[in-house]
Amino acid sequence: MKANQLQVKQIRLNIGGVSILNDVSFSLSEGDRVGLVGPNGAGKTSVINCITQFEKRYQGEVTFSNKLLNKENPQDLPKYKIIRTFQNLGLFNELTVLENFYIAAHQSFESKLKNVFKLEKEVKQEALTLLEHESINLHDIVSDLSYGQQKIVEFLCALIQRPSVLILDEPAAGLNDFEKNRMIEMILKKQQELNFSLLVVEHDVNFVSTLCQNVVVLQSGELLCSGSPEEVFKRKEVIQAWIGESNV
Ligand SMILES: Nc1ncnc2c1ncn2[C@@H]1O[C@H](COP(=O)(O)OP(=O)(O)O)[C@@H](O)[C@H]1O
Ligand SMILES: [Mg+2]
Repeated sequence: MKANQLQVKQIRLNIGGVSILNDVSFSLSEGDRVGLVGPNGAGKTSVINCITQFEKRYQGEVTFSNKLLNKENPQDLPKYKIIRTFQNLGLFNELTVLENFYIAAHQSFESKLKNVFKLEKEVKQEALTLLEHESINLHDIVSDLSYGQQKIVEFLCALIQRPSVLILDEPAAGLNDFEKNRMIEMILKKQQELNFSLLVVEHDVNFVSTLCQNVVVLQSGELLCSGSPEEVFKRKEVIQAWIGESNV
């Protein structure tokens, strides 16, 4: 059996007397691809914020390879190779694609000043390889790219940090079907090459079913159920809670 890599244990989050998350537990093992799904406002992004320590007001435990992360700061998470993307794109719009790669790499690889040039040379080389089959140029300004291209750049900025756990918050939101399929292909290909485990928040049932081996369903901050996509998406309570109200 594979060892648990990332564990979320009995997370509770109350903000201003409102319960946002209630007793949420699940885990991710090496090489897993887990989908975190649920209706809008279910608490999916809040779970990611707790895992990555952007949200500190929670109770419960988050561990990585049995090390407690609760006391860490969000900027320390890349040290553990836990890398996330943001629902509303975490890119610097006025900068070039390459500059965004540099910033991502600097967040992850503490570089002493004398090594900056070496790091940036390596990053540039790697960025060129990552963008090989894309119609995106290293010197393009991010805001000049289509939304789909920006989503790809954000994903690649996460990859350049060599994640061991990659957390994607709605990587397919706003993409058309063609772009969604490309995103799935790209994630699967890169996972094979780079061997990270994946936690992905997404609304699209087809996207999650194609990509993930396991699904965790949240509703109103509570874990409704979990299991394989085939099993979970058939359940009456899941259809009632979520699929019925979504665009599927
Ligand atoms: N920082 C915050 N302060 C107060 N309420 C919040 C905060 N972040 C999220 N919430 C609330 O928590 C609930 C869950 O939000 P969120 O985690 O963003 O859901 P999801 O990602 O599943 O759509 C929502 O009702 C939202 O309004
Ligand atoms: Mg969200």
